[in-house]
Amino acid sequence: MSTDDSIKVSPLPKGLNRLRMPDHIAVIMDGNGRWAKAKGLPRTMGHTAGVESLKNTLNLCSKWGIGALTVYAFSTENWSRPSDEVNFLMTLFESVLKRELNSLKLKEVKINFLGDLDPLPIALKDLINESVESTAKNKGIHFNVCTNYGGRRELVLAAQKLAERSVKGELDPSLIDENIFASELFTASETDPDLLIRTSGEKRISNFLLWQLAYAEIHVTDVLWPDFNADALIKALLDYQSRRRRFGGV
Ligand code: FPP
Repeated sequence: MSTDDSIKVSPLPKGLNRLRMPDHIAVIMDGNGRWAKAKGLPRTMGHTAGVESLKNTLNLCSKWGIGALTVYAFSTENWSRPSDEVNFLMTLFESVLKRELNSLKLKEVKINFLGDLDPLPIALKDLINESVESTAKNKGIHFNVCTNYGGRRELVLAAQKLAERSVKGELDPSLIDENIFASELFTASETDPDLLIRTSGEKRISNFLLWQLAYAEIHVTDVLWPDFNADALIKALLDYQSRRRRFGGV
């Protein structure tokens, strides 16, 4: 449900049960390159088209009262792509953020960027800081953009931070439990995703939210990310609502 009762929630499409909506959705937005190739376009056009799907998905999730949307925008492995494509993506993130920030603020979206942001271009980092700070108090959907994010790296960084605190005598290692561990992750203030959606048919987690997805329901669709629309999101939600979540119980 929405994080604040004052945020207006629209009626749900027919067939969806308000009481069984996921609170947090994570998305691996895959298939931009294939979408462009199928249309005889450069791969980069697939990313540009993917931005529209992302805007649409965020708006729908916000409208339907979902508490958080976390998307995989750029992985630690994506640096190995041709430099032209990497540069295009960095410029795209910057221009989209610049263009959309006002509208995100008006919609009460609270934006956050998860990952090691240090290696990003300085202009993008500045804009990220401005976006995060200026939306920090917003009461609407949490929109988390995983950028230079890798699940294994996140776990190693968390282990390092806990080890440092232990060495300094601030933390008794025998007291480290799942809550303390999770508090050192990029997602510290967020609940775990209930639903993971992956587009373009690949059945992999690809180093995304390795800790946080422990009990998520997984929906894989063949739809390529730029074609992911309201119908595809409703299908994912209906699939989610058809599952019986047992969290390891019977
Ligand atoms: C995966 O498709 C997609 C990406 C690596 C980039 C996703 C980025 C966006 C949709 C833009 C988001 C914008 C902001 C501001 C957050 P792929 O290139 O791996 O596709 P392929 O598997 O078909 O080659």
